[in-house]
Amino acid sequence: MTTGDAFHVPLPDLAATERLAARLAPLLRRGDLLALEGDLGAGKTAFARALLRVLGVTGEVPSPTFTLLQSYETATFPVHHFDLYRLKIEIELDELGWHEALADGVTIVEWPTRAAGFLPEDRLELHFAMDDAATRHCAVKPKGAWQGRWENAR
Ligand SMILES: Nc1ncnc2c1ncn2[C@@H]1O[C@H](COP(=O)(O)OP(=O)(O)OP(=O)(O)O)[C@@H](O)[C@H]1O
Ligand SMILES: [Mg+2]
Repeated sequence: MTTGDAFHVPLPDLAATERLAARLAPLLRRGDLLALEGDLGAGKTAFARALLRVLGVTGEVPSPTFTLLQSYETATFPVHHFDLYRLKIEIELDELGWHEALADGVTIVEWPTRAAGFLPEDRLELHFAMDDAATRHCAVKPKGAWQGRWENAR
């Protein structure tokens, strides 16, 4: 279903999250940024974990809640998984290696609005949410060059 510029995906269970990750993974290339938005518990880390699994990461995929960043090697590019919920000031992004991460591999960011001034215009936003029935869903919102890439891939 498409409404406006968003593409809505129901995520009734973790298997649905895994299918969304499997669909997105082949589109990714070095330099990409995925912005995972949504409230606490909406399913951001579950998606990041599913994506890393599809990309071949077999070890632990802990939430970067306290470390703010976890990095992984995959066959094709490094993946940098940020959780900026606890970011206090944007200047900390430099210390975390934000700019290097963006250039170096694929970057997945939970709580991206904490780094609003540092997000590339070309990004794929995934807005996770739970409706009243506690059923999760995701609105895919491609920005900038991602609009064309997403259209081509559908
Ligand atoms: N599609 C889904 N169906 C069922 N359960 C899910 C789904 N996605 C996530 N969950 C479960 O919901 C809980 C919270 O998910 P998750 O940790 O991914 O949230 P989050 O958005 O990363 O939250 P936070 O903002 O605290 O980091 C976990 O127990 C997870 O397994
Ligand atoms: Mg999380």
